[in-house]
Amino acid sequence: MEDKLNKIVSLCKRRGFIFPGSDIYGGLSSIWDYGPLGARLKKKIKDIWWKTYVEERDDIVGLDSSIIMHKDVFLASGHLSGFVDLLVDCPNCKKRHRLDKILKISEEIYKCPDCNVDIDINKNKPRKFNLMFKTNVSATEDEPIDAYLRPETAQGIFVNFLNVLDTTHKKLPFGIAQIGKAFRNEVTSGNFIFRMKEFEQMEIEYFVNPQEAEEFYRYWVNERYEFYIKKIGLRKENLRLREHSKEELAHYAKACSDIEYNFPFGFSELEGIANRGDFDLKEHSRVSKKDLSYFDEKTKTKFIPYVIEPSSGVDRTFFAVICDAYYEEKVKDETRIVLKLKSDLAVYEVAVFPLLKNKSQLVEVAKNIFYGIKDKISSCYDDTAAIGKLYRRQDEIGTPFCITVDFKTLEDKTVTIRDRDTMLQERVSIDKIIDFLKERLGR
Ligand code: GAP
Repeated sequence: MEDKLNKIVSLCKRRGFIFPGSDIYGGLSSIWDYGPLGARLKKKIKDIWWKTYVEERDDIVGLDSSIIMHKDVFLASGHLSGFVDLLVDCPNCKKRHRLDKILKISEEIYKCPDCNVDIDINKNKPRKFNLMFKTNVSATEDEPIDAYLRPETAQGIFVNFLNVLDTTHKKLPFGIAQIGKAFRNEVTSGNFIFRMKEFEQMEIEYFVNPQEAEEFYRYWVNERYEFYIKKIGLRKENLRLREHSKEELAHYAKACSDIEYNFPFGFSELEGIANRGDFDLKEHSRVSKKDLSYFDEKTKTKFIPYVIEPSSGVDRTFFAVICDAYYEEKVKDETRIVLKLKSDLAVYEVAVFPLLKNKSQLVEVAKNIFYGIKDKISSCYDDTAAIGKLYRRQDEIGTPFCITVDFKTLEDKTVTIRDRDTMLQERVSIDKIIDFLKERLGR
């Protein structure tokens, strides 16, 4: 399984999906950059989410709030005091670990995962470490004004609740959705893009009447689970739901379920769906002294809505998509690596090649085909290697179809179109390419 993780990291770097952050300076732990193909795939994931929840529904509106936020936001949210990890240092190898992530032998004794030595927490006292990144928004260093990078996009939604309500006149139940960066100074590294210091979330805060909170909580758990299967194309057997025990709940949550994906290192959280109760709006009302309650015209009552929060990670969804689509197949004694991506997530829907790059007639026809289809079908053109290598490249990035222009094309104006999954090739006349591909892509 470790092997699969290494293979995926290597594929992502080799093909330009993901690079280590600040790579030429030796990288930074738990910081990653998305390359040309990664940026495209990531955008597709976000677009599907946004279209599903903001564009296709009339009960959810979008928001794009700032990353840097007032320190009082986090006083109210509880992050300043409560968003901490307990860290312990191994007395032997000196490595620092999160106490909740290492093996507990007894109440006092933990096991160092690196050198296997016992860590006695009476002698090596665990220390609290706040995960938020602090910054200074003052113009001078002598009079700093503290602010923080948001550790979740959710807080940008809560502080804008009143602005959105006043400008959209939405009635309960309604949601505010946001996609954006969040920052946490995570100590545990490894596992590729699973846990990063800078990552992206897709969050909805869905405001409801408190009496309907349980019903909407169940609705969102189911809705989000189905989303990963139907819209993202993850295999059902690689997904599972896990309800949090009372002890595990975050300080704000009344209930929470995780959607877990079977990553190469085992089932781990892909998304959390929480019933946050009225914690956030109540605390922001108290600290900001602004009334964040809602007036219900039907019952003529005023109350603080409850909020149901489906909170998904863009990067973890990306990671799950790659893991789910990754296949190795034996083809004539060679191993073919292929990403069997759902066609609407594939970076390109089709690639166009000339059979030989030094035959100018083939190159010219292939380029004409590419320029003729690229605004209707997402396409790329490649003539930088031999045909076998070009197919392998496209298989590895998950392109569903490859068009090859060969000598027969010059005679009868037909090309071969190769299917990524079956590797079968069909001859199609040039003027039918778009219809053929649209039909095969299910458009
Ligand atoms: N607003 C609620 C919230 O932030 P969370 O469980 O801490 O809840 C939600 O985060 C989702 O954000 C996670 O399920 C995960 O997909 C993603 N996420 C959280 N921390 C992350 C990290 N350090 N790196 C990558 N993704 C992360």
